[in-house]
Amino acid sequence: MATLTVHDDGKYLAIQTHSKTTRFHAIWLRDNAWDSETRAVGNGQRLLALRDIPANTAIATATIEGEKVTLTFAPEGKSVDYPLGWLMENAYDMVGETDIGWTSTFVETWGGDLMSDIPVADFAAVSTNDRALKGWLEKVARYGFGKLENGPVQDLALMQVVDLFGFVRETNYGRHFEVRTEVNPSNLAFTGLGLQAHTDNPYRDPVPSLQVLYCLESSAAGGENMVVDGFRAAERLRNENSEWFDVLSQYCARYEYVGEEGNVLRSRRPMIELSPDGELIGIRFNNRSLAAVTDVPFDKMDTYYAAYRRLGEIIDDPEMEVTFRLKPGESFVVDNTRVLHARKAYSGTGTRWLQGCYADKDGLLSKLAGLQARTLEAAE
Ligand code: FE2
Repeated sequence: MATLTVHDDGKYLAIQTHSKTTRFHAIWLRDNAWDSETRAVGNGQRLLALRDIPANTAIATATIEGEKVTLTFAPEGKSVDYPLGWLMENAYDMVGETDIGWTSTFVETWGGDLMSDIPVADFAAVSTNDRALKGWLEKVARYGFGKLENGPVQDLALMQVVDLFGFVRETNYGRHFEVRTEVNPSNLAFTGLGLQAHTDNPYRDPVPSLQVLYCLESSAAGGENMVVDGFRAAERLRNENSEWFDVLSQYCARYEYVGEEGNVLRSRRPMIELSPDGELIGIRFNNRSLAAVTDVPFDKMDTYYAAYRRLGEIIDDPEMEVTFRLKPGESFVVDNTRVLHARKAYSGTGTRWLQGCYADKDGLLSKLAGLQARTLEAAE
Protein backbone atom coordinates (compact mmCIF):
# COMPACT_ATOMS: atom_id res chain seq x y z
CA MET A 1 0.00 0.00 0.00
CA ALA A 2 1.37 3.35 -1.03
CA THR A 3 1.10 6.54 0.99
CA LEU A 4 1.46 10.08 -0.34
CA THR A 5 3.00 13.15 1.28
CA VAL A 6 3.41 16.64 -0.14
CA HIS A 7 6.57 18.60 0.66
CA ASP A 8 8.18 22.03 0.32
CA ASP A 9 4.93 24.00 -0.07
CA GLY A 10 3.65 21.67 -2.75
CA LYS A 11 6.83 21.67 -4.84
CA TYR A 12 7.12 17.89 -4.74
CA LEU A 13 5.21 14.71 -3.97
CA ALA A 14 6.70 11.69 -2.19
CA ILE A 15 5.22 8.24 -2.72
CA GLN A 16 6.11 5.75 -0.02
CA THR A 17 5.87 2.08 -1.07
CA HIS A 18 7.21 -0.60 1.29
CA SER A 19 10.50 0.90 2.46
CA LYS A 20 11.10 3.03 -0.62
CA THR A 21 10.36 6.72 -1.15
CA THR A 22 10.05 8.09 -4.69
CA ARG A 23 9.80 11.82 -5.28
CA PHE A 24 8.19 13.70 -8.18
CA HIS A 25 8.26 17.46 -8.80
CA ALA A 26 4.97 19.33 -9.14
CA ILE A 27 5.96 20.84 -12.48
CA TRP A 28 6.95 17.42 -13.86
CA LEU A 29 3.66 15.90 -12.71
CA ARG A 30 1.60 18.73 -14.18
CA ASP A 31 3.47 18.60 -17.50
CA ASN A 32 2.93 14.82 -17.67
CA ALA A 33 -0.78 14.85 -16.94
CA TRP A 34 -2.79 12.53 -19.17
CA ASP A 35 -6.18 14.29 -19.06
CA SER A 36 -7.86 15.16 -22.35
CA GLU A 37 -7.05 18.87 -22.01
CA THR A 38 -3.33 18.13 -21.69
CA ARG A 39 -2.98 15.21 -24.10
CA ALA A 40 -4.86 14.44 -27.31
CA VAL A 41 -7.11 11.42 -26.96
CA GLY A 42 -5.89 8.88 -29.51
CA ASN A 43 -2.34 9.87 -30.43
CA GLY A 44 -1.40 11.12 -26.95
CA GLN A 45 0.35 14.23 -28.27
CA ARG A 46 0.70 17.05 -25.76
CA LEU A 47 -1.73 19.91 -26.39
CA LEU A 48 0.01 22.39 -24.09
CA ALA A 49 3.35 24.14 -24.28
CA LEU A 50 5.20 24.70 -21.02
CA ARG A 51 4.31 28.40 -21.26
CA ASP A 52 0.66 27.37 -20.68
CA ILE A 53 1.54 25.92 -17.25
CA PRO A 54 2.20 28.45 -14.46
CA ALA A 55 5.81 28.55 -13.28
CA ASN A 56 4.60 28.57 -9.65
CA THR A 57 2.64 25.32 -10.08
CA ALA A 58 2.33 23.45 -6.78
CA ILE A 59 0.51 20.38 -5.52
CA ALA A 60 -2.46 21.49 -3.41
CA THR A 61 -3.87 18.07 -2.47
CA ALA A 62 -2.81 14.47 -3.02
CA THR A 63 -4.95 11.38 -2.44
CA ILE A 64 -4.68 7.71 -3.39
CA GLU A 65 -7.48 5.21 -3.90
CA GLY A 66 -6.30 1.75 -4.90
CA GLU A 67 -4.04 2.29 -7.90
CA LYS A 68 -5.35 5.79 -8.68
CA VAL A 69 -3.37 8.83 -7.55
CA THR A 70 -5.37 12.09 -7.66
CA LEU A 71 -3.60 15.43 -7.43
CA THR A 72 -4.91 18.98 -7.56
CA PHE A 73 -2.64 21.72 -8.76
CA ALA A 74 -2.54 25.37 -7.66
CA PRO A 75 -2.94 28.00 -8.96
CA GLU A 76 -4.93 26.33 -11.79
CA GLY A 77 -7.23 24.46 -9.40
CA LYS A 78 -6.91 21.51 -11.78
CA SER A 79 -7.46 17.89 -10.72
CA VAL A 80 -5.57 15.08 -12.48
CA ASP A 81 -5.59 11.28 -12.02
CA TYR A 82 -2.48 9.15 -12.53
CA PRO A 83 -2.16 5.35 -12.51
CA LEU A 84 0.31 4.54 -9.70
CA GLY A 85 1.97 2.00 -12.02
CA TRP A 86 2.66 4.69 -14.64
CA LEU A 87 4.29 6.94 -12.04
CA MET A 88 6.52 4.16 -10.76
CA GLU A 89 7.51 3.08 -14.28
CA ASN A 90 8.53 6.65 -15.08
CA ALA A 91 10.17 7.47 -11.76
CA TYR A 92 13.44 9.42 -12.00
CA ASP A 93 14.35 9.69 -8.32
CA MET A 94 17.01 6.97 -8.53
CA VAL A 95 19.11 8.32 -11.37
CA GLY A 96 22.66 8.60 -10.12
CA GLU A 97 26.16 8.80 -11.48
CA THR A 98 26.91 6.30 -14.23
CA ASP A 99 30.20 5.13 -15.72
CA ILE A 100 31.37 7.06 -18.75
CA GLY A 101 30.77 4.78 -21.72
CA TRP A 102 27.78 2.98 -20.22
CA THR A 103 25.40 1.13 -22.53
CA SER A 104 21.66 0.57 -22.38
CA THR A 105 20.37 -2.60 -20.72
CA PHE A 106 19.00 -3.54 -24.17
CA VAL A 107 22.52 -3.71 -25.55
CA GLU A 108 24.90 -6.62 -24.98
CA THR A 109 28.47 -6.26 -26.15
CA TRP A 110 30.31 -9.28 -27.55
CA GLY A 111 33.58 -10.61 -28.87
CA GLY A 112 34.51 -13.76 -30.79
CA ASP A 113 32.50 -15.77 -28.25
CA LEU A 114 29.36 -14.88 -30.21
CA MET A 115 30.60 -17.11 -33.10
CA SER A 116 28.82 -20.07 -31.56
CA ASP A 117 25.54 -18.18 -31.31
CA ILE A 118 25.29 -15.83 -34.32
CA PRO A 119 21.94 -13.99 -34.40
CA VAL A 120 20.29 -15.74 -37.34
CA ALA A 121 16.80 -16.42 -38.67
CA ASP A 122 15.09 -18.01 -41.64
CA PHE A 123 14.04 -15.59 -44.39
CA ALA A 124 10.64 -17.23 -44.95
CA ALA A 125 9.92 -17.38 -41.21
CA VAL A 126 10.58 -13.69 -40.56
CA SER A 127 8.66 -12.75 -43.73
CA THR A 128 5.49 -14.60 -42.71
CA ASN A 129 5.52 -14.84 -38.94
CA ASP A 130 5.50 -11.81 -36.62
CA ARG A 131 6.81 -13.79 -33.69
CA ALA A 132 9.85 -14.91 -35.70
CA LEU A 133 10.37 -11.35 -36.96
CA LYS A 134 10.15 -9.95 -33.42
CA GLY A 135 12.70 -12.50 -32.18
CA TRP A 136 15.15 -11.66 -34.95
CA LEU A 137 14.75 -7.87 -34.60
CA GLU A 138 15.32 -8.18 -30.84
CA LYS A 139 18.64 -9.87 -31.58
CA VAL A 140 19.62 -7.21 -34.13
CA ALA A 141 18.83 -4.50 -31.55
CA ARG A 142 20.76 -6.34 -28.80
CA TYR A 143 23.85 -7.41 -30.74
CA GLY A 144 23.94 -4.86 -33.57
CA PHE A 145 23.73 -7.37 -36.41
CA GLY A 146 21.72 -10.31 -37.64
CA LYS A 147 21.89 -12.80 -40.48
CA LEU A 148 19.07 -14.19 -42.62
CA GLU A 149 19.27 -17.57 -44.37
CA ASN A 150 17.38 -19.29 -47.18
CA GLY A 151 16.22 -16.17 -48.99
CA PRO A 152 15.56 -15.96 -52.74
CA VAL A 153 18.53 -15.75 -55.11
CA GLN A 154 17.07 -12.90 -57.05
CA ASP A 155 18.04 -9.41 -58.19
CA LEU A 156 17.10 -6.82 -55.51
CA ALA A 157 15.94 -9.41 -52.99
CA LEU A 158 17.67 -7.15 -50.44
CA MET A 159 14.68 -4.79 -50.74
CA GLN A 160 12.51 -7.56 -49.27
CA VAL A 161 14.84 -7.56 -46.26
CA VAL A 162 14.43 -3.80 -45.81
CA ASP A 163 10.64 -4.15 -46.20
CA LEU A 164 10.64 -6.32 -43.07
CA PHE A 165 11.44 -3.33 -40.86
CA GLY A 166 11.67 -0.01 -42.63
CA PHE A 167 12.75 2.02 -45.59
CA VAL A 168 15.78 2.34 -47.82
CA ARG A 169 18.02 5.32 -47.17
CA GLU A 170 18.88 6.52 -50.65
CA THR A 171 22.30 8.14 -51.11
CA ASN A 172 24.46 9.39 -53.98
CA TYR A 173 25.38 5.71 -54.50
CA GLY A 174 21.73 5.08 -55.40
CA ARG A 175 18.97 3.10 -53.69
CA HIS A 176 21.35 0.17 -53.69
CA PHE A 177 24.92 -0.57 -54.75
CA GLU A 178 26.62 -3.56 -56.37
CA VAL A 179 29.60 -5.31 -54.83
CA ARG A 180 31.04 -7.53 -57.56
CA THR A 181 34.44 -9.16 -57.21
CA GLU A 182 36.18 -11.29 -59.84
CA VAL A 183 38.93 -13.20 -58.16
CA ASN A 184 41.51 -14.57 -60.64
CA PRO A 185 45.23 -15.28 -60.46
CA SER A 186 46.24 -12.00 -62.16
CA ASN A 187 44.54 -9.80 -59.60
CA LEU A 188 44.57 -12.18 -56.67
CA ALA A 189 47.35 -10.20 -55.01
CA PHE A 190 45.09 -7.18 -54.95
CA THR A 191 41.64 -8.60 -54.23
CA GLY A 192 43.13 -11.22 -51.96
CA LEU A 193 43.65 -8.51 -49.39
CA GLY A 194 41.05 -8.19 -46.73
CA LEU A 195 39.75 -4.79 -45.67
CA GLN A 196 40.19 -3.44 -42.18
CA ALA A 197 36.90 -3.55 -40.30
CA HIS A 198 35.12 -0.23 -40.59
CA THR A 199 31.82 1.55 -40.34
CA ASP A 200 30.41 2.85 -43.61
CA ASN A 201 30.03 6.45 -44.70
CA PRO A 202 31.22 8.22 -41.54
CA TYR A 203 31.42 11.36 -43.73
CA ARG A 204 27.61 11.58 -43.73
CA ASP A 205 25.76 13.40 -40.99
CA PRO A 206 23.51 11.77 -40.03
CA VAL A 207 25.31 8.55 -40.85
CA PRO A 208 23.23 5.72 -42.38
CA SER A 209 22.46 3.73 -39.27
CA LEU A 210 21.86 0.33 -40.91
CA GLN A 211 23.49 -1.49 -43.78
CA VAL A 212 22.03 -4.53 -45.55
CA LEU A 213 24.27 -6.83 -47.60
CA TYR A 214 22.70 -9.59 -49.68
CA CYS A 215 24.63 -12.38 -51.40
CA LEU A 216 23.62 -13.46 -54.92
CA GLU A 217 26.77 -15.30 -56.05
CA SER A 218 29.71 -16.72 -54.18
CA SER A 219 32.07 -19.15 -55.87
CA ALA A 220 35.44 -17.79 -54.69
CA ALA A 221 36.96 -19.46 -51.66
CA GLY A 222 37.55 -17.19 -48.70
CA GLY A 223 36.06 -13.71 -48.69
CA GLU A 224 34.10 -14.38 -45.48
CA ASN A 225 32.25 -11.53 -43.88
CA MET A 226 33.53 -10.38 -40.55
CA VAL A 227 31.95 -8.16 -37.91
CA VAL A 228 33.43 -6.56 -34.80
CA ASP A 229 31.47 -4.95 -31.97
CA GLY A 230 32.66 -1.34 -31.87
CA PHE A 231 31.06 -0.87 -28.43
CA ARG A 232 33.11 -3.77 -27.05
CA ALA A 233 36.24 -2.28 -28.66
CA ALA A 234 35.50 1.09 -27.01
CA GLU A 235 34.93 -0.61 -23.65
CA ARG A 236 38.28 -2.40 -23.95
CA LEU A 237 40.03 0.86 -24.78
CA ARG A 238 38.40 2.57 -21.78
CA ASN A 239 39.41 -0.27 -19.46
CA GLU A 240 43.01 -0.23 -20.74
CA ASN A 241 43.51 3.52 -20.69
CA SER A 242 40.75 5.97 -19.83
CA GLU A 243 42.78 8.91 -21.20
CA TRP A 244 42.77 7.27 -24.64
CA PHE A 245 39.03 6.68 -24.44
CA ASP A 246 38.50 10.30 -23.39
CA VAL A 247 40.57 11.81 -26.18
CA LEU A 248 38.68 9.84 -28.87
CA SER A 249 35.29 10.72 -27.37
CA GLN A 250 35.94 14.34 -26.40
CA TYR A 251 37.49 15.57 -29.65
CA CYS A 252 35.97 15.42 -33.10
CA ALA A 253 37.57 13.60 -35.98
CA ARG A 254 36.81 14.74 -39.51
CA TYR A 255 35.67 12.51 -42.32
CA GLU A 256 35.45 13.30 -45.98
CA TYR A 257 34.43 11.80 -49.29
CA VAL A 258 35.07 13.73 -52.47
CA GLY A 259 33.69 11.81 -55.41
CA GLU A 260 32.66 12.29 -58.97
CA GLU A 261 29.67 14.43 -59.91
CA GLY A 262 30.48 17.10 -57.37
CA ASN A 263 29.87 15.02 -54.25
CA VAL A 264 31.69 16.58 -51.32
CA LEU A 265 30.56 14.91 -48.13
CA ARG A 266 32.08 16.03 -44.83
CA SER A 267 31.39 15.45 -41.17
CA ARG A 268 32.96 16.51 -37.89
CA ARG A 269 32.22 13.84 -35.29
CA PRO A 270 34.19 11.86 -32.70
CA MET A 271 35.36 8.27 -33.32
CA ILE A 272 33.64 7.31 -30.07
CA GLU A 273 30.40 9.22 -29.58
CA LEU A 274 28.80 9.65 -26.16
CA SER A 275 25.53 11.21 -25.11
CA PRO A 276 25.85 14.17 -22.70
CA ASP A 277 25.43 11.76 -19.77
CA GLY A 278 28.14 9.41 -21.00
CA GLU A 279 26.14 6.71 -22.82
CA LEU A 280 28.07 5.05 -25.64
CA ILE A 281 25.98 5.85 -28.71
CA GLY A 282 28.17 5.63 -31.77
CA ILE A 283 31.41 4.48 -33.36
CA ARG A 284 32.87 5.95 -36.54
CA PHE A 285 35.95 4.09 -37.70
CA ASN A 286 37.13 4.12 -41.30
CA ASN A 287 40.78 4.59 -42.27
CA ARG A 288 39.87 5.31 -45.91
CA SER A 289 37.68 8.31 -45.19
CA LEU A 290 39.34 9.89 -42.18
CA ALA A 291 40.29 13.44 -43.22
CA ALA A 292 42.94 15.61 -41.57
CA VAL A 293 42.03 15.82 -37.90
CA THR A 294 42.22 19.48 -36.93
CA ASP A 295 40.11 19.72 -33.78
CA VAL A 296 42.59 18.20 -31.33
CA PRO A 297 44.87 20.63 -29.44
CA PHE A 298 48.58 20.39 -30.25
CA ASP A 299 49.51 18.99 -26.85
CA LYS A 300 46.89 16.21 -27.15
CA MET A 301 47.66 15.08 -30.72
CA ASP A 302 50.28 12.49 -29.73
CA THR A 303 47.82 10.99 -27.26
CA TYR A 304 45.09 11.12 -29.90
CA TYR A 305 47.20 9.13 -32.38
CA ALA A 306 48.24 6.63 -29.71
CA ALA A 307 44.55 6.13 -28.85
CA TYR A 308 43.52 5.82 -32.52
CA ARG A 309 46.32 3.27 -33.09
CA ARG A 310 45.29 1.23 -30.06
CA LEU A 311 41.60 1.29 -31.01
CA GLY A 312 42.62 -0.06 -34.44
CA GLU A 313 44.71 -2.82 -32.81
CA ILE A 314 41.76 -3.83 -30.64
CA ILE A 315 39.50 -3.89 -33.71
CA ASP A 316 42.09 -6.04 -35.56
CA ASP A 317 42.40 -8.50 -32.64
CA PRO A 318 41.14 -11.89 -33.92
CA GLU A 319 39.51 -12.44 -30.51
CA MET A 320 37.09 -9.62 -31.31
CA GLU A 321 35.79 -10.93 -34.61
CA VAL A 322 32.80 -12.98 -35.63
CA THR A 323 33.05 -14.39 -39.15
CA PHE A 324 30.51 -16.09 -41.34
CA ARG A 325 30.21 -17.00 -44.97
CA LEU A 326 27.31 -15.66 -46.97
CA LYS A 327 25.89 -18.17 -49.42
CA PRO A 328 23.64 -17.06 -52.26
CA GLY A 329 20.27 -16.13 -50.74
CA GLU A 330 21.84 -15.16 -47.41
CA SER A 331 22.12 -11.64 -46.10
CA PHE A 332 22.95 -9.65 -43.03
CA VAL A 333 21.88 -6.41 -41.42
CA VAL A 334 24.42 -4.44 -39.43
CA ASP A 335 24.01 -1.47 -37.08
CA ASN A 336 26.40 0.95 -38.76
CA THR A 337 26.54 3.18 -35.67
CA ARG A 338 28.04 0.37 -33.62
CA VAL A 339 29.27 -2.75 -35.44
CA LEU A 340 32.19 -2.65 -37.86
CA HIS A 341 32.26 -4.94 -40.87
CA ALA A 342 34.90 -6.23 -43.25
CA ARG A 343 35.59 -8.85 -45.85
CA LYS A 344 38.29 -11.41 -45.21
CA ALA A 345 40.94 -12.25 -47.80
CA TYR A 346 40.19 -14.59 -50.72
CA SER A 347 42.14 -17.79 -51.09
CA GLY A 348 40.90 -19.05 -54.46
CA THR A 349 39.42 -17.97 -57.77
CA GLY A 350 35.82 -17.31 -58.71
CA THR A 351 33.23 -14.58 -58.42
CA ARG A 352 31.35 -12.93 -55.63
CA TRP A 353 28.33 -10.74 -56.08
CA LEU A 354 26.58 -8.90 -53.29
CA GLN A 355 24.01 -6.15 -53.35
CA GLY A 356 23.96 -3.62 -50.55
CA CYS A 357 21.85 -0.73 -49.36
CA TYR A 358 21.37 1.51 -46.36
CA ALA A 359 18.38 1.92 -44.08
CA ASP A 360 17.80 3.49 -40.68
CA LYS A 361 17.69 2.06 -37.20
CA ASP A 362 14.80 4.19 -35.90
CA GLY A 363 12.50 2.38 -38.36
CA LEU A 364 13.77 -1.01 -37.20
CA LEU A 365 13.34 -0.09 -33.52
CA SER A 366 9.84 1.26 -34.26
CA LYS A 367 8.85 -1.99 -35.96
CA LEU A 368 10.26 -3.95 -33.02
CA ALA A 369 8.49 -1.81 -30.40
CA GLY A 370 5.20 -2.17 -32.30
CA LEU A 371 5.54 -5.97 -32.39
CA GLN A 372 6.44 -6.03 -28.68
CA ALA A 373 3.38 -3.90 -27.80
CA ARG A 374 1.13 -6.27 -29.77
CA THR A 375 2.59 -9.27 -27.97
CA LEU A 376 1.88 -7.57 -24.62
CA GLU A 377 -1.71 -6.79 -25.64
CA ALA A 378 -2.24 -10.38 -26.79
CA ALA A 379 -0.99 -11.60 -23.40
CA GLU A 380 -3.42 -9.38 -21.45
FE1 FE2 B 1 31.79 -1.24 -45.92
